[in-house]
Amino acid sequence: MSEKDVILEARDIYYRYPDGTLALKGVNFKARRGEMVALLGPNGAGKSTLFLHFNGILRPHRGEILIKGKPIKYDSKSLLEVRKTVGIVFQNADDQLFAPTVMEDVAFGPLNLGCSEEEVKKRVKEALRAVGMEGYEDKPPHYLSGGEKKRVAIAGILAMKPEVMVLDEPTAGLDPMGASRIMKLLYRLNREGMTIIISTHDVDLVPVYADRVYVMDKGRIITEGTPREVFSKVNLIRGANLRLPRVAHLLEILNKKDKIPIKMGYTIGEVRANILEYLRKECKKV
Ligand SMILES: Nc1ncnc2c1ncn2[C@@H]1O[C@H](COP(=O)(O)OP(=O)(O)OP(=O)(O)O)[C@@H](O)[C@H]1O
Ligand SMILES: [Mg+2]
Repeated sequence: MSEKDVILEARDIYYRYPDGTLALKGVNFKARRGEMVALLGPNGAGKSTLFLHFNGILRPHRGEILIKGKPIKYDSKSLLEVRKTVGIVFQNADDQLFAPTVMEDVAFGPLNLGCSEEEVKKRVKEALRAVGMEGYEDKPPHYLSGGEKKRVAIAGILAMKPEVMVLDEPTAGLDPMGASRIMKLLYRLNREGMTIIISTHDVDLVPVYADRVYVMDKGRIITEGTPREVFSKVNLIRGANLRLPRVAHLLEILNKKDKIPIKMGYTIGEVRANILEYLRKECKKV
């Protein structure tokens, strides 16, 4: 893909919080149109801080954020435009939900975009259906469970139909069914053309869906590539206090303990072929 397909880019971003914490130290990040990109990193790596730059909530001290090749400007009119393009689902749903009912909460974004009443109703209905929360329209968001809140927060951004959806740990705190349901929804939206950027600690689920993975540690991007490329860098992943996906860990055990010739990053199919090949050779020896 060419550079003109880059829809969102962070160029050499530095950010320092008012208390002096230097949270981002020269971060470079790109998402191309239609990609699903995962950002992995341990607690405190700077994932949320980086994401808050993507629609101009935070302004970098150095470097710039580009949307479709144009640097973000920080006047209120330009920011409104940016927020039409890039929607962010916060890490903590309580930071996002504030209206008295679920319906009003999800309607807030499209109303702000100036959609007609009819269009707003349609979008709210579609968004709540997409996240499996229809029937909850009249409930106050603060009565919902953690997972339900998260789904409503996602619906609120979905209803704005952004070109890029940025989700800060969308699967954290969800049960396995809930997490896999959200990932399937994101996968479907991605297939329909939406660019999706997700931060996570969940090395088993999210990278399965991601086209590309960035790994962040201590305010810096330490590696980037396809899930296969990234998880083959075992020491780097462990050095950043992350664990390998269970599949990759299994491969490591097969390789180190059982001496089965397997390269990290192999798919299950390739592993199976290799084990069979190995067994065939061993059988011949006997
Ligand atoms: N409002 C703030 N004021 C001062 N320091 C902050 C603030 N918010 C975050 N930080 C610091 O900035 C660094 C990056 O935090 P950030 O929340 O971006 O990490 P993260 O990768 O999202 O972590 P987690 O996985 O726990 O969500 C941390 O050292 C954190 O303590
Ligand atoms: Mg965070």
